[in-house]
Amino acid sequence: MSVPVSKRITTLLSSLLVAATLSPACAQTADQAWLRPSTLERRPTISLEPRVLGFGIMEQAALREMKDGNARLLGGTSDSDPSPQKIDAILGTVDEIRRALPNAPVPLDLSPEGYWVYWNGAEEKPSIVIAGADHAGIIYGVFALFRFIATGHDPNRMEIRSQPAFHIRWVDQWDNFDGTVERGYAGRSIFFEGGEVRKDLAPVSEYARLLSSVGINTCNLNNVNANPDLLKHSNLEGIARIADAMRPWGVHIAMSVALNSPQAVGGLTTSDPHDPAVKAWWVAKAREIFDLIPDFAGFTVKADSEGQPGPSTFGRTPADAANTLAAALAPHGIVLYRSFVYNHHLDWTNPKADRARAAYDIFQPLDGKFDPNVVIQTKEGPIDFQAREPVSPLFAALQKTPQAMEVQITQEYTGQQRHLVYLAPMWKEVLDFDFQVPFYDPSTVEAILSGLAFLQPTGGMVGVANVGRDAWLSSPLALANLYAMGRLAWDPGLDPEEIAEEWTRQTISNDDQVVHTVDTMLMDSWPAYESYTGPLGLQTLTDITGSHYGPNVESSERNGWGQWHNADAQGVGMERSAGFGTKFVSQYPPEVAKLYELPISTPDELILFFHHLPYNHTLTNGKTVIQQIYDSHYEGAAKAAEFVEDWKTLKDRIDPRLYANVLPRLEYQAGHAIVWRDAVVQYFHKLTGLPDEEGRAGNYPGRLEAESAKLTGYTVIDITPWEDASQGKAVSCDTTSTCAAEFAFTGKPGYYDIAVQYFDLRDGVAKFTFRVNAKSIAAWSADATLPSIIPNGDNSTRRTIQSVELKPGDILRVEGTPDAQDHAALDYIELTAGPPPGPETTTEPPANFRGIR
Ligand code: GCU
Repeated sequence: MSVPVSKRITTLLSSLLVAATLSPACAQTADQAWLRPSTLERRPTISLEPRVLGFGIMEQAALREMKDGNARLLGGTSDSDPSPQKIDAILGTVDEIRRALPNAPVPLDLSPEGYWVYWNGAEEKPSIVIAGADHAGIIYGVFALFRFIATGHDPNRMEIRSQPAFHIRWVDQWDNFDGTVERGYAGRSIFFEGGEVRKDLAPVSEYARLLSSVGINTCNLNNVNANPDLLKHSNLEGIARIADAMRPWGVHIAMSVALNSPQAVGGLTTSDPHDPAVKAWWVAKAREIFDLIPDFAGFTVKADSEGQPGPSTFGRTPADAANTLAAALAPHGIVLYRSFVYNHHLDWTNPKADRARAAYDIFQPLDGKFDPNVVIQTKEGPIDFQAREPVSPLFAALQKTPQAMEVQITQEYTGQQRHLVYLAPMWKEVLDFDFQVPFYDPSTVEAILSGLAFLQPTGGMVGVANVGRDAWLSSPLALANLYAMGRLAWDPGLDPEEIAEEWTRQTISNDDQVVHTVDTMLMDSWPAYESYTGPLGLQTLTDITGSHYGPNVESSERNGWGQWHNADAQGVGMERSAGFGTKFVSQYPPEVAKLYELPISTPDELILFFHHLPYNHTLTNGKTVIQQIYDSHYEGAAKAAEFVEDWKTLKDRIDPRLYANVLPRLEYQAGHAIVWRDAVVQYFHKLTGLPDEEGRAGNYPGRLEAESAKLTGYTVIDITPWEDASQGKAVSCDTTSTCAAEFAFTGKPGYYDIAVQYFDLRDGVAKFTFRVNAKSIAAWSADATLPSIIPNGDNSTRRTIQSVELKPGDILRVEGTPDAQDHAALDYIELTAGPPPGPETTTEPPANFRGIR
């Protein structure tokens, strides 16, 4: 028998209260993100005395947030101002506030979820008023008030009025029922473990607080590659507990469903969406869910895609499938049907085949055939969250169907949270993109998603978040993406730099210099990543059939996945023009198609996405394609190195734990950017035989290859793909004892920074020692958790030993001791003349840093 919602909520609220009073520091809390204690040098010397006019659970949560915010951000510093001014804060819906404060100028036209936060100075005793268009609006208003204060604004005479641009403001979690998270880089699921819902849902409530604080109103819990078992009644009861844990903050839940569920869980003989028994099964299932979770938001569907079951098995269309689910969920729930549907067995020998065309080809003919509560959810680009893609043409082509745009917070193809890549500028570019649809002005993505452009009742943004138990998104700076996604979905007019500033002020510091430094790093990070992974619209030149992380230029080629870039000795790029190519360009409205049809008008950053060009083609910046490929990789890697120096300027200005947490991550990124740079540059250098005007390709001063060293125990191995190792080779210690590689130093006497480039494999913790003339200078464990169990660009990493004094004849010796599958493989060492040791020099990573995940 299921427990009624009201009873479950009473239990939940009392357990939250107990948790709040007895154990303020539960394992994973929202204050690990941006809901932190004040970073202001001087807190406003006021203390809010909150009073809420209603009794709903969201209003109670709003009250608790008021108390929490008061403690975190207000009250002055205890020694400088022991008695802050007490200010009443009155919370309620617009109607409640109007009744309680007839003279307050409450706006009457707030749209759902909107809020009005007002410093009511007209009365004898000033107060703060927070009026929500509804209960969710009250919570959003509370968070807006504290965001305002935490970013250094004075609440005196404040008036903030805001309402969301998009109704759909969802995060998707790709959590599996066993506790793993597909494309999750921050540990295991906060929802599931071992095939059931976790008992401890405190982190889930904290997650809901975080989401609510940036205006996210729904969390889709499980992997789009959905496990039908989740729909079993016993599991739905567990899921109802998750809904209870999120509900107080106005966060609804949704679920991904598999279209073969009627057979897999329902025991039917078919899952044909037109079959009456199948329709009835979905109706009954939806009723069962709404009984347990009355505010259930809806289903997300991935079908006929990457092996998932779908309507095509029964000769039905996505509209047939979507409408069957929509009918079951109506009138309260919606279906987010993903347009990420494509054939991953494409014929790569066919010059007209093009994966980018798939979403439009399949969904555009169905425009107008979907039920009103179906929303088509489309990734921002036509391929798959690459470092750069053009905007998906489908947005402009569905004019009779509500739409949501899917973006990826988890950074699957953009550095997996090990690389700093702030994605808000990318998302903003997409939101601002104007399709110039005839007769619709504006026809930006923003206008389409808000429903304004094509007069649709709903629409919005979905961010694939994939938070886990490891500090939400593993890297503290990666959380800026979760923050920014919520803020943009609420207000797509915001400037990404402004969002970065807001986030930094709340999370790190209100010191202007810190804010400037961090924001500049954030803003530079996506262009840098793009430059050293996939410039000119080459997408991400990564291992697309494996980790999606390190470089592997050919993994996209000559297979059915269709992420081709068609590089050969003469030219590179996919010809997608209407005239000579796959005609993908014609999927855009005429003005945009005109822009992309010819190389001359295609923006450089997308030119190879749309055109196959000879390497000597001149770009608008005057460089040839090949020179731009070389230059951008060097520039991008140099920028990544700058991030380390930028961060170092923050030492003593920010929380030392945060400083120590982030520094090794940035150092790692700078090293991995070099792996990327060298892999892609040497690949194209060899393929084309064309020189680098700057003389860098194939020329690495100070680099000593391991395969040319005097080896004891080590054997020379070929690395696959070859470009992932310097000269394609490395050495591997395929024995059980310690191996050594010795290099005789022949350079000028002086101080050198020595980079040891090695492969840190996932299964095993190899050990390394670096000696000069037998004396140990550094020793470390290869304990990072990087992808892949074979040595390649996923796990090629470096350890830099600074300011080592060398003279000709010195013997530099790297000793590697294998462990399990980690064979202490070594690529090269590289010497760079450096300064003598200074007081700041450190060769050990901070004690609390156990390795990059
Ligand atoms: C990518 C990703 C998959 C995911 C898929 C999707 O291809 O690698 O893990 O399932 O996108 O969005 O459906």
